[in-house]
Amino acid sequence: MTTPLPPKGTVLASLDAIQDPGGYPTEFEDLPIIVVRSADIVRAYINVCPHAGRPLSLPSGKMLISKGEHIVCPFHGASFAVETGACTGGPAGNAGLKPIPVRVENDQVVVA
Ligand code: FES
Repeated sequence: MTTPLPPKGTVLASLDAIQDPGGYPTEFEDLPIIVVRSADIVRAYINVCPHAGRPLSLPSGKMLISKGEHIVCPFHGASFAVETGACTGGPAGNAGLKPIPVRVENDQVVVA
């Protein structure tokens, strides 16, 4: 059974809680989510790397973002575009991140 995506209107994070550039790990029921921010770009993805299923964030909650453009998986170095989740290098092949549509509303990141 797979956990459904959070319903529209679900607040995932306060914008202030997310480093810029950086990420904020959270979850909806048992679905791990990472909210990612780089300048004006705010995105949310399921927090599972498509290479070997590890989280994209470190146990501290921090995540690696190269040049403000690429999320870098801390386990084997696969990289993904912050803006689209598309794989941009490393061992994940063509597999990208699974997006959760969000918008920013009153400094909150909300499922769209
Ligand atoms: S689990 Fe992410 S690169 Fe291997």
